Amino acid sequence: MELWHIRGGKRLEGACFVQGSKNASLPILAASILAPLRCELHNVPQLRDVDAALRILRHLGCLAEQRGNDVYIDSSTLSGCSIPHSLMEEMRSSVIFMGALIARCGEARLSLPGGCQLGKRPIDLHLSALRQLGAEIEEDGMDICCRRAELKGAEITLPFPSVGATENAMLAACAAKGTTTIRGAAREPEIEALQEFLRSAGAEISGAGGGTIRIEGFHPNARSVCRIIPDRIVASTIACAAAAAGGDVELRGIDPRHFSTLLYFLNKAGCDIISSNRSVRVRSRGKLRAVGEVVTEPYPGFPTDAQPVLMAAMLRAEGKTVMRETIFENRFRQVPELRRLGADITSSGQTAEIWGVDCLHGAALTATDLRGGAAMIVAGLAARGETVICDDGHVTRGYEHFDMRLRALGADIYLDF
Ligand code: EPZ
Repeated sequence: MELWHIRGGKRLEGACFVQGSKNASLPILAASILAPLRCELHNVPQLRDVDAALRILRHLGCLAEQRGNDVYIDSSTLSGCSIPHSLMEEMRSSVIFMGALIARCGEARLSLPGGCQLGKRPIDLHLSALRQLGAEIEEDGMDICCRRAELKGAEITLPFPSVGATENAMLAACAAKGTTTIRGAAREPEIEALQEFLRSAGAEISGAGGGTIRIEGFHPNARSVCRIIPDRIVASTIACAAAAAGGDVELRGIDPRHFSTLLYFLNKAGCDIISSNRSVRVRSRGKLRAVGEVVTEPYPGFPTDAQPVLMAAMLRAEGKTVMRETIFENRFRQVPELRRLGADITSSGQTAEIWGVDCLHGAALTATDLRGGAAMIVAGLAARGETVICDDGHVTRGYEHFDMRLRALGADIYLDF
């Protein structure tokens, strides 16, 4: 069990580099097995989920090691195509190995993935995309067995721009004969990052970042080198912390366009946002104003992953904020915990209403999931007195050295293991 100890009320000041993106790293780690490749990945965050992906790679017979923020993989030694449930259940992204394995081995045996409990998280769109490419898939509610005689290029239209289904389709399509077009694809920056990696590995792929991706062939290179993009949700979390606790923080290395909707709301709340090419300064100017209605949407809309941390920043903002969650059915699990700090929030179904209060007070909380836990940290930084968050390892799944990064900005926060 991890315990976050926070003494709130300190302004956050200074500059920090934003860690590499978890959600960009994980599909790229899965993609490293598409062909016998030697990969060098830089700026990979040291996180539990990254460690879980490396253990899957080793289980499959690859050489995979992390040294600091560099990861070295040799997938030429791959010798298996099945992943046991104990590894699958560690994170949601384990499911992306399905597309990569079927592309490389013609077979994948795995089980349903784990990950944060955010409501139903089916994989029907993943399976449908793979079937359209020619995979034969048997599932019995827990185990999945995927085979193909030969994958064939296809016209795939996703009825919803699922991030994971887009990634699985991109990977499997690399091994398909002929051209694959994925319409209705997810447009997140992490999808563009995966495209960049696939290109460096030898794929002819274009269109990521728009709604239509084309994969025309794959002529594997022996070696691929890639730098992981900065994490837009970690940047959003630190920006919300600066807004909530008061402060003046420069986030370095991040492309402001990747979290522009969050910056829009912080600006609407009364913060100065000073953006340049590769950095953003967030400066709070006293009491925040409520931002009205916030609706989560697929990228480029407001991200569901930033909803809990913006909610935390709005707890002391003057007026009413309404959050409407449209991506996951259970993404307000932080609400009862935030109430313990004195927050005035109600949630019903997919809507939460927050009335800003003058003051939050420290309390003992329990982290419910990754971003919910991060929201509790943001709120704890803005509360008077001590907040202790009891966390079963949720936050460290996605935030690297988060206590140290926040301490460097002046926060009084410690993590006890
Ligand atoms: C990715 O999850 C992210 N995870 C999530 O980040 C993020 O919240 C989510 O995208 C949305 O942006 C990673 O990248 C590792 P989806 P993913 O498939 O791929 C439904 C975090 O905190 N759906 O776009 O699982 C699904 O139930 C995490 O870092 C189907 O119905 O998201 C959900 O309601 C949490 N059938 C919606 O689509 C499917 O086959 C979005 O899911 C697939 C998805």
